[in-house]
Amino acid sequence: MLKCENLERLDDAARGEDSTITRISKVPAPKITAEMIRDMKARGEKIPALTAYDFPMARLLDEVGIPLMLIGDSLGMVVLGYPDTTRVTMADMEHHVRAAARAKPRSLVVADLPYGGYETIESAVTNAKRLVTAGAEAVKAEGGREILPQVQAIISSGIPFLGHLGMLPQHVLEEGGYHVKGKSEPEHQALLADADALVKAGAFAIVLELVTPRVAKELTQRLPVPTIGIGAGPDCDGQILVTPDLLGMLPWYSLKHVKPKLNVAEQMRSVVKEWKESVEA
Ligand code: KIV
Repeated sequence: MLKCENLERLDDAARGEDSTITRISKVPAPKITAEMIRDMKARGEKIPALTAYDFPMARLLDEVGIPLMLIGDSLGMVVLGYPDTTRVTMADMEHHVRAAARAKPRSLVVADLPYGGYETIESAVTNAKRLVTAGAEAVKAEGGREILPQVQAIISSGIPFLGHLGMLPQHVLEEGGYHVKGKSEPEHQALLADADALVKAGAFAIVLELVTPRVAKELTQRLPVPTIGIGAGPDCDGQILVTPDLLGMLPWYSLKHVKPKLNVAEQMRSVVKEWKESVEA
């Protein structure tokens, strides 16, 4: 159903040509919606999701058939060079959402509401609408019951919402680092209650970041909507990664939850060095 292209048989007779020949022609597959992502769980289909921050990345991910691309506020670290996501602004998010959306992907384009962008119901709805105007088709914000009025208002305004529980990178300064969640019983219970509340509010899926694999599995079995894990073990309904981490573009950081599948940084260095030397020679 969510395959990259639809093949449709067209009877040539219908086009006034030889009726004995049936051609197979490509027609564009339907745009992926938040409902389609939600329904993948019921069909037992896994959800591979990745981040994109610009036109080429969005286009490449879409050509491979990634069904959900996130314009994540991780762009603060992996594109803008900030130490964490807390300095990313709405203007930054809009700029990168516009760039990715210009690829006109079939994938669902989800954009992060940045730090400080959903403190009140009014700011949450205004900023979610700004992201949609920039090209997003759904928004994500970090938190559970503490942001429930904002989540309800975003969904009531007609914008699909992706939840984000577990380690919340926008809280990294208060928390003093990136810590795994769900190890203690109060954390475990809080995750269950937050996830239930987001589902009740109408979230179409929930990202689980750095949640213990045991609790991520329990949430995946408990919730009617997909869980999309990052550093949360293998038992989620989908997995999401920050694309530059997967490609080995950031050799200065090492992460436990992702082993780069390429070494783009080293390949770039060596190609650039070779070209530089050829010019100098
Ligand atoms: O900003 C981001 O890229 C994210 C993913 C890590 C899920 O929120």
